[in-house]
Amino acid sequence: MTNTPEPTDKRWRPVENAMRRNGYQAGGLIEALHAVQRSYGYIDETAMRTIAAALTLPLSKVYGVATFYHFFHLKPKGRHTCVVCLGTACYIKGADQLLQETARNYGIKPGETSADGYLSLLTARCVGACGQAPAVVVDERVLGQADTVSLADYLGQLPRGDNGENRQAEGQPTTDAGANPITRTDANPATANGVNPATTAVTEPGGRPTNGQGETP
Ligand code: FES
Repeated sequence: MTNTPEPTDKRWRPVENAMRRNGYQAGGLIEALHAVQRSYGYIDETAMRTIAAALTLPLSKVYGVATFYHFFHLKPKGRHTCVVCLGTACYIKGADQLLQETARNYGIKPGETSADGYLSLLTARCVGACGQAPAVVVDERVLGQADTVSLADYLGQLPRGDNGENRQAEGQPTTDAGANPITRTDANPATANGVNPATTAVTEPGGRPTNGQGETP
């Protein structure tokens, strides 16, 4: 998406619906941004400008919210997404080494996508799988007790031609179950209350949205 969303662009309809549902009020901003990301995979400047105009908000406000939350992407993601949890439980079990090694293997920094578009490397504070620390989420699949060798092996064997959904549909493990020390959880990395910190804005008791770390935009 590089130009103003066309009225005929079906991908924009969920965004329009989200804004309409909220009466084109500013309070519907996060929902609208979520809708853009679901439809397009990322949020570009055109989408931000269009939403800002529709909700009568300054572009700076929309940009500020879109960049504040880790789960919003402003650039297209790679075919596969690797989210290394840097929450306390994972960090003390070596998550930082997983992050550094993966970044080195793909020649990228956290938050970047490899030059061939194969992998996006992201971080999260807690993906709700502390009992399996260190945990990594690859294409929404939780890999527990990850180590640098098994994670590199797993990532290296992901399909090159799609976003990993085929693998999931086929139910294929990437390596022999007996040989791979990574344990997999196919459910979404939701916390005990069913909230997925990777995709859901957190609301403080006072009603102000936060990024899950007690910070507000
Ligand atoms: S700290 Fe990593 S899953 Fe909770």
